[in-house]
Amino acid sequence: MLHSQTTAIRFSRFGGHSVLSQQNIPLPALGKTDVLVRNKAIGVNFIDIYHRSGLYPISLPSGLGKEGAGVVEAVGRDVSRVKPGDRVSYVRAPLGAYSHAHVMDQDALILLPDDIAYKTAAAMMLKGLTAAYLLLKTHLLKPSDTILVHAAAGGVGSILTSWAKMIGATVIGTVGQESKVEIAKTNGCDEVLLYRQQDIPHAVNAITGGKGVDVVYDSVGKDTFEMSLDSLKKRGLMVSFGNASGAVPDFPPLLLSQKGSIFLTRPVLFDYIHEPAEQQQLANALFAIVQSKQLSINVNYQLLLSEAEEAHCMLESGATTGSIVLIPDEG
Ligand SMILES: NC(=O)c1ccc[n+]([C@@H]2O[C@H](COP(=O)([O-])OP(=O)(O)OC[C@H]3O[C@@H](n4cnc5c(N)ncnc54)[C@H](OP(=O)(O)O)[C@@H]3O)[C@@H](O)[C@H]2O)c1
Repeated sequence: MLHSQTTAIRFSRFGGHSVLSQQNIPLPALGKTDVLVRNKAIGVNFIDIYHRSGLYPISLPSGLGKEGAGVVEAVGRDVSRVKPGDRVSYVRAPLGAYSHAHVMDQDALILLPDDIAYKTAAAMMLKGLTAAYLLLKTHLLKPSDTILVHAAAGGVGSILTSWAKMIGATVIGTVGQESKVEIAKTNGCDEVLLYRQQDIPHAVNAITGGKGVDVVYDSVGKDTFEMSLDSLKKRGLMVSFGNASGAVPDFPPLLLSQKGSIFLTRPVLFDYIHEPAEQQQLANALFAIVQSKQLSINVNYQLLLSEAEEAHCMLESGATTGSIVLIPDEG
C-alpha cells in the first residue's frame, strides 16, 4: 500500500543535536523521473552534523541525511532506471534520508547487489564512495606512495586505510585516542600515531627517512591542518576533506611555497559523482572489493531512527569507530 505520509527527523533552526525532532510529514507527489524509496537503513555521517549545526548552510526547516538504502516503492511515469521492488542505495538525494520513506530523482539511485545487505550499504556508500574518489580520482594512488591518514579508525578513515593497503601503498594512520590504535592497525595501517600526543611531522620524518609523505588525507581539519602540511614531501599533495574538529582558518597561499611547493585540494564527494555514470563507476569499484571480501565494512553502531539525536551525540563525541546506521522503527 502506498503511503501519503512518512515519519522523518526534521529541524527548523541550526544548533546542537537537541534541535532534531521526529515528525510526520506529507510525501511529495512523484514527478516524472522521481522514485519513492522505503528506507531499510540510513547512514549517519559527519556532513549531517555540518548541516544541522549550520557550518554548511541550508534553508530551514529541513530534513536531514544524505545516505540510505532500501526498496523502490513507487516510480514516476518516465522512470526507466529502476522499478518497484528493486534494492537501491543513494547518497546524493535531497536532504531527508533520516526518514521511513524518501523521494528523489532516479539519477540519485544506485542499484544494490543482492549480496550487499541494506545495513552494510548504509554504512559504506557515502564513506566508501569518498574513499573511492580520494584514492582513484583526486590522486591515483600507487603502490609506491606513502600516505598519512588522520582519524584512521573512523568511518571514512577505516575504509580509506584498508583500500589504500589493498592498492599496496604504505599507510601511516593517526588516531585521537589510545583506544583506537589497535583498530587502526587492524584496518591495515603500517604505523599508527597519536596526533594529539605526538609530534606528527617529526614522527613522519623518522618513518619516511626524512622525505615526508606523498599525500595527506586530512578530515580532522582545524586541529591537524598545520601538522599535515609539515608532514608532506616537497611537491606533495594535501587533501583536506573534512572539518571534524572545526573548519581550517584562512591562510596565505604563500604558505604552500614555504612548505615545499606543496599542492592543496579541498574536494567534496558530490563533485565527483555528479554524473550518474561517474557515480556508478565508483560504486562498482566499491562493490567489487566488498564482494571479494577484501574490504570489510564495520557497522559498529545500530540505532533506531527515533534515536538520531543519540547517534549525533555519539559521532560528535569523537569516540566512535567505523560506521553508525539508523534503522527505521517499525510501524
Ligand atoms: N569531502 C568529502 O567528500 C567528504 C565525504 C565524506 C566524509 N567527509 C569527512 O570525513 C570525515 C569523517 O567522516 P565520518 O562520517 O567517517 O566520521 P568519523 O571519521 O567516523 O568521525 C570523525 C572522527 O574525527 C576525529 N575528530 C577529531 N576532532 C573531533 C571533534 N572535535 N569532534 C568529533 N570528532 C573529531 C575523531 O577521530 P580521532 O579520535 O581518531 O581523532 C572522530 O572519530 C568528516 O570530517 C567528514 O566531513 C568528507
